[in-house]
Amino acid sequence: MDLSVSKLAQRLTVASQSHLLQFWDELSPEQQAELTLALQGMDFQEINGFFKSAMETSSSCKQEKMDARMEPVPREVLGSVTRDKESLKDWEQTGLHQISQSKVAVLLLAGGQGTRLGVSYPKGMYDVGLPSHKTLFQIQAERILKLQQLAEQKHNVKCCIPWYIMTSGRTMESTKDFFSRHKYFGLDKNNIVFFQQGMLPAMDYNGKVILENKGKPSMAPDGNGGLYRALGSQGIIDEMEQRGIQFIHVYCVDNILVKVADPAFVGFCVQKGADCGAKVVEKTNPTEAVGVVCKVDGLYQVVEYSEITLATAEKRSADGRLMFNAGNVANHFFSFSFLKDIVEKYEPQLQHHVAQKKIPFVNVQGDLIKPDKPNGIKMEKFVFDIFQFSKTFVVFEVLREDEFSPLKNADSQDGKDTPTTAKHALLSLHHRWVLNAGGHFIDENGTRVPAIPRDGAAATVTDDGNRNLKDGTDLPIKCEISPLVSYGER
Ligand code: UD1
Repeated sequence: MDLSVSKLAQRLTVASQSHLLQFWDELSPEQQAELTLALQGMDFQEINGFFKSAMETSSSCKQEKMDARMEPVPREVLGSVTRDKESLKDWEQTGLHQISQSKVAVLLLAGGQGTRLGVSYPKGMYDVGLPSHKTLFQIQAERILKLQQLAEQKHNVKCCIPWYIMTSGRTMESTKDFFSRHKYFGLDKNNIVFFQQGMLPAMDYNGKVILENKGKPSMAPDGNGGLYRALGSQGIIDEMEQRGIQFIHVYCVDNILVKVADPAFVGFCVQKGADCGAKVVEKTNPTEAVGVVCKVDGLYQVVEYSEITLATAEKRSADGRLMFNAGNVANHFFSFSFLKDIVEKYEPQLQHHVAQKKIPFVNVQGDLIKPDKPNGIKMEKFVFDIFQFSKTFVVFEVLREDEFSPLKNADSQDGKDTPTTAKHALLSLHHRWVLNAGGHFIDENGTRVPAIPRDGAAATVTDDGNRNLKDGTDLPIKCEISPLVSYGER
């Protein structure tokens, strides 16, 4: 061992992680170099500290106590697209005005590994099988383009909505490459800023870093709340400041219906003077895998689906609705000054959450084991854990059928949140847009197709607004409207 390696060995001994060099002598020089590089990049004191406090906060007795401290979102901070119809136009105008001043940015969280969907490439590159075969990235890009145009037309100025895209070590290169191959989907490449979140090792229950193979620790992204550290360490917050960004819409990659930089949501938050806001849909099924926005000890928080007890998830109010029904759709609003404060002051206070996982590992004999029950943890920060620092927090309730259909799982019969359900959600929304605009569909014989069809006809609306009708058998009617034609029905 040379000097740097023996220094590393010493550091590992102090941190009780010396098992990481157990197979050193069996590794090739290249593998040794790779392992050294990986371990040198880790702050073991910090990692051990994360492990200790994450395990303490996740203990089940604390979790039960938290259930007792939860309160639903109070009515006065809630805006709703259905109950506050008279204000909606005004909110939209405010949002559009801010956009036209280039004060609004969107920030995409795309550092996840898409494990449940089971693809090896970034989820945003997924094609759910729309008639156009557009990917999630393309749909989002075109919505940004269209919204820029709408703001420009309305206010007669040139504007841009910068798009910040957070990836992780595993998704960075392929994401960048995909955008470049598709010529940034028509957006100005200078207004798309990629940055990378951090990674953390998986640990066993005794706090030992797990080896994925003899020369490699098992690493995973540090959760979508890794955003705040990355915004600071990668200079993104400064970049936003230089551009004069005032408001940021943060969202997750997997929702095919996402209204990026939604002017109504932005305008609502701006008019309420909010520093932080969350979009929600009504949660109707207690076991649905969405977090709920609520208050805990008087502070706003999302209690994640993996962290709420069933008894609490099932509680109902007098009107029969779930008591904790503000389902988090992972669309958040932040004022720039709030975000800056988080990055500069509060980030270190955020606790990691613990996810128990089946993590493949090499045992002391050097055999590769694929466990059939959880054998360790991954530690993740969550993007919404900063709600607690908000001084003016608001919640914006939207309709699920208009705005929320996440892609989480691979297709399976009766599967939930799959490519098929995402595709159907978008087609059915666009079908309704046409009906709401006074249009109707005809089949190949010229017969009018009923608004609520029993068997479908297929139609597509192309970028130039032309509608093509085709035969079709599957529900719903195949109507896809390009975002370049309409952003949110306009
Ligand atoms: C997330 C929300 C949940 C919400 C649900 C709605 C969090 C922590 N949870 O849950 O409250 O009800 O969406 O669909 O936000 N990501 C990263 N880096 C990571 C991990 C994830 O950027 O290290 C990104 C993913 O790419 C994705 C998003 O965060 O865009 C959400 O990740 P995912 O694991 O799918 O969250 P859910 O558990 O579905």
